[in-house]
Amino acid sequence: MTLILGFQDYLPQAEKLALCLSIPIKQVDLHQFPDGETKVTLPEKLPKQIIICRSLNQPNDKLIELIITASAARNQGVEYITLVAPYLCYMRQDKAFSTGEAISQKIVGKLLSEYFDSVITIDPHLHRIKNLTDAIPNTAAITLHATDAITSFLQSKFQQPVIIGPDEESEQWVKAIAAPHQWQYTIATKQRYSDTEVNVSFSDADSPEHTKLNLTAQDIIIVDDIASTGKTLEEAVIQIKKQNPNSISIIVTHAFFVDSALQHLNRLGVNNIWSSDSIPHSSNAFSIINTVAIQLNKHGTK
Ligand code: R5P
Repeated sequence: MTLILGFQDYLPQAEKLALCLSIPIKQVDLHQFPDGETKVTLPEKLPKQIIICRSLNQPNDKLIELIITASAARNQGVEYITLVAPYLCYMRQDKAFSTGEAISQKIVGKLLSEYFDSVITIDPHLHRIKNLTDAIPNTAAITLHATDAITSFLQSKFQQPVIIGPDEESEQWVKAIAAPHQWQYTIATKQRYSDTEVNVSFSDADSPEHTKLNLTAQDIIIVDDIASTGKTLEEAVIQIKKQNPNSISIIVTHAFFVDSALQHLNRLGVNNIWSSDSIPHSSNAFSIINTVAIQLNKHGTK
């Protein structure tokens, strides 16, 4: 029998996964010492296989706690540990953009590979590498997608929405979401100047499909994997509003919406802002846990 280990900050999702897989769940207890260190207490009598379910947003403390948990589990005789981290941290820093910058993706990936036999995540931010196994070597590293869950969710809300991706990277998700229903879609081009300065444009010659699409009076859905500062989405909304659509909704897989990102988007008159439960957030509207459960059910919990 496999056991799920959950943590307080991601417990509803871990419990849902346990329910979907019909396996038990127990909680890892964390105690913060006054100096910032963490005491990690595992349940006793762990089975040979466990699944640790915790998303890796705000990752620095969590990574240490997961490593301590995995090591302590091995000391109890656990032989196979799967990490289910719907949001996988440090995947964006996949090259040294200037001299001296650490390639965090490789470093964190190697660290995870030393402690986990298998890592399952949802739409990690992989741009310069194709496969998650390139980032997390010698591990069963599995990438799942939120697109099916997004399509089902949107289908319950709209008849014929127009799906928009704010940058070239979003094309993979936009196409997968639009294709099953032949919804129209288009992809913008984005230039990022800094963490908070981006330019999103629909008029680029490389994006001829946009010119064919009339957004006036349409229900527009902007799709992205991550909303962090929200600037990408803000710029897309500003451009789209010029065409007087009927409504503008935003749907993302991983919702950070740092600082006042959500307020800025609301102030622009965005009708809906939805996200998956990969990261707990007030915008969570649909779950990706079923997607994880289907994978684990199909291939076994080992
Ligand atoms: C970038 O390529 C990603 O797909 C997102 O568009 C990006 O991470 C969003 O960041 P922000 O919300 O800070 O503009």
